[in-house]
Parts: sequence; structure tokens; C-alpha cells
Amino acid sequence: MNATFELSIVRGTIVDFTGDPTKDSNACRVVIDGAFVIENGIIIDRGDSAVMQTAYPNAICHDYSGQIIMPGFIDAHIHFPQQEIVGSYGKQLLDWLDNYTFPAEEAFGEGDHAAVMAKKFIDELFRNGTTCCMAYATVQKSVTEALFAEASKRDMCLFAGKVLMNRNAPEGLLDTVEQAEVACRALIERWHGVGRNHYVLTPRFAISCTAEEMQMAAALHREHPTTYIQTHLSENKAEWDFTHTLFPECDDYLAVYEKMGLLTDRTVFAHAIHLSESEWERLSKANAVIAHCPTSNLFLGSGLFNMEAAYKHNIALGIATDIGAGTSFSLLKTLGEAYKVQQLRGYSMNAFESFYKITLGAAKALKVDSQIGSIDINKVADFVVIDPIRTDLEQLRTQYMQRTDQYTPENLLFGLQTLGDDRNIVATYVKGKKVYER
Ligand code: GUN
Ligand code: ZN
Repeated sequence: MNATFELSIVRGTIVDFTGDPTKDSNACRVVIDGAFVIENGIIIDRGDSAVMQTAYPNAICHDYSGQIIMPGFIDAHIHFPQQEIVGSYGKQLLDWLDNYTFPAEEAFGEGDHAAVMAKKFIDELFRNGTTCCMAYATVQKSVTEALFAEASKRDMCLFAGKVLMNRNAPEGLLDTVEQAEVACRALIERWHGVGRNHYVLTPRFAISCTAEEMQMAAALHREHPTTYIQTHLSENKAEWDFTHTLFPECDDYLAVYEKMGLLTDRTVFAHAIHLSESEWERLSKANAVIAHCPTSNLFLGSGLFNMEAAYKHNIALGIATDIGAGTSFSLLKTLGEAYKVQQLRGYSMNAFESFYKITLGAAKALKVDSQIGSIDINKVADFVVIDPIRTDLEQLRTQYMQRTDQYTPENLLFGLQTLGDDRNIVATYVKGKKVYER
């Protein structure tokens, strides 16, 4: 296959970000009838469609005129083994873990279940326009392997890790510090930095890990400083009460992770709802990342994330589905719920700050913005084609906006996050290849 055959042009309305729209009001870049050129999976040029077509007459054209093309969505926190338990009724975090989550995760160790589910998991991400995620596997090394193997087959950018748990979970899901260290070392060696894979040390949360287990994870991170760390922080009040009985010497929740060496600029903390001013300040000083999970926080009744405090403290943010406490794989739906959570706190997020957080904002937070997050030259061509007017209701809303002179990019995107879901996703591309088509 020669290089010319690999050359393609993608045409449509291109929407992405050049910076953070909360700091730069011109950061959203919209090119109506734009195009970009892909060679061997990498974006090599972008501009007006007519200019690109003249400059690259031999390129194959994927014509999505009238549709929106955005960078592939990035889900900053999701649990691979929890697809089957989405929408499990009743109670809050700790009961939900005991009753639904742990049994489902235990079953992943059996037969080829993990390999079968890895295919379904990645298919579902692509069907929703998500091209990159930071995922928890289970405690079983083989389950983590199955996820990395499937992502590698699809050429997808994946952040993932084996869950670390050595207490307060069913026997079948516990490991020892020694076993966990051997497994993590092998997984880092096999997968970290191989293809588009990133290894994430994954102490589930302080309740399920002894100090020794967390310190082992921190030591491995120091030994392999380009790995990441993910855990859960201050999601639920009963969770903190239990954590406090396990670590009575720590004055707040963050202090536990701080003391263990897990508070770094490559740590992604999910939830972070019930934080003191001091915890916000220490997260900020460490340049740590927060993954906000609105559908999960509503579903488990965990609380309302304080977005304004995150802005005040200049914290890097991602938005996440948190499947299976979260209720949708769609980051469009998730943005819609993020908006409502902030409304309940008296803050109205605009559409630009929302979409930034599932594209360039997340890529920056995860330190991969040199590779993904926007439609820019030298980045990998991970993108999603979106039909913003898919349903009758979206059509009515659009016609009304046009009649009343409100048809702006911001209003269009806001409609998409409020009414949109997987039905709006026309196609998803990873490294320049179509991996989903509606
Ligand atoms: N805290 C510890 N484990 C989990 C999990 O699987 N889901 C959520 N939402 N919170 C957690
Ligand atoms: Zn989670």
C-alpha cells in the first residue's frame, strides 16, 4: 500500500478548542465547511474544505458536510467490569459495591468472560463517540490483560490498571501486597507505553487497601514516573466515616492518600465531592486531576460536585461516565447531567466549557494533549462525526433557533448536550480508521 492511498480528507463543520474557554472566550474554534487531511492516521493539514481539496487532489474524501466533527471524546473515569450492572436498584455507595459491584467483578475471572466483555465495552465506547478512556479493570491480572489486548487490536488510546484491593471485599477479589506488586510490575512491563496504552496504578480506595498496599502503588509509580494513579476520593459521607475509622490519624480524606505518596500530578481522583478548603488547596498545589462523574453522583445520591471551587483552585478536570454507578456511556448525556448538577448549586456551565472537558481539557489533564484532544497538525486522527439534528425534537428546536436568530455554535452545542445521546453519533474514527458507523 503506498502513502498516497493512505491519504484522506475529512470534510464537515469542525469544532474543537485551542485553549480553555473559561480563560479565553475565543478558545472554541468552529470552521463551517472545513476539512483536515490524514496520512497514516496522523493529521497533516487543516483548513477550509475548498483549499484542502485543491491542495490534496489525490486524497480520498470522507464528506460529512452539514455534520459536526469533533475530537474523539475522552472519558476520564470508567469501570470496565461494571457494564452489566448499570441501573442496579437501591442504596448508596457502600451497599451498592457489596450487593452488585463485587459479585459482577468476581465473575470476570471466569473463562473467556473478560475477553468477550472487552469487545462489548470498546464497541459501546465507540458507539458513543468515546475514543479514549481511563478505566478500572478488576483485581484479576488476566482481566486487565484482556482489556489492554482488545484496545491494542483497535489501536485505541487506553489508560487502565489492575484494581488493588487487599481488604474489605469478598475473598475472591483480594490479593496480597506481594501478589499485587508482582502483577503490576508484569503489567507495566507488558503494556505501559506499548502502542497507545498507559498503565494506571489503581488502589480502588482507602477502604479496600491497607497502608502497605497503597505505599506499594506509590513506590511503583515513583519507579515508573510516566505511569498514572487513579482512585476514588470523598464520594460519600459514610465512605469517609469508614475511612476515618481505618486511618484515625488522618484529619481528612485526602490526607490518607497524601500520606501514602499517592497525591501527584498524574493522579486522577474520581468524585471529590465533600472536600474542605484545605483539601482543595492541597489538590491544587499538587496539580492533581479530578474526574467529575455527574450521572453516578446523582444515581448513588452521593452529592453535588463543586465546579466553581475546582475553577477557583485551578484544578485540571475531566468529565466521566463512571459506568456502572453512572447510568450512560454517552458523554453527551453526561454533560447534560453535569449542567443540571451545577444548576442545583447555582452555577450555569456553558456549552463551550462542557465540551472542552471531554476533549482538549481531558487530554491536557491526562498529559496526552500533544497527541489527542483537538483537530491539529501532528495529532492522531481520533474524531467523532455528530449529527446535531437527529430527532424530531432537535429539528423543532433548530428551526426555532433559526427563526429567532439564536442559531449560534454555542446554542447548537448546548442543545446537543441537553438532548443528545448515542443516536447523534454518525461515525467514530480512531487513528484515521472508521471504527463505528451508525
Ligand atoms: N468507590 C470504590 N469503588 C467504587 C466503584 O466501583 N464505583 C464508585 N462509584 N465508587 C467507588
Ligand atoms: Zn469509580
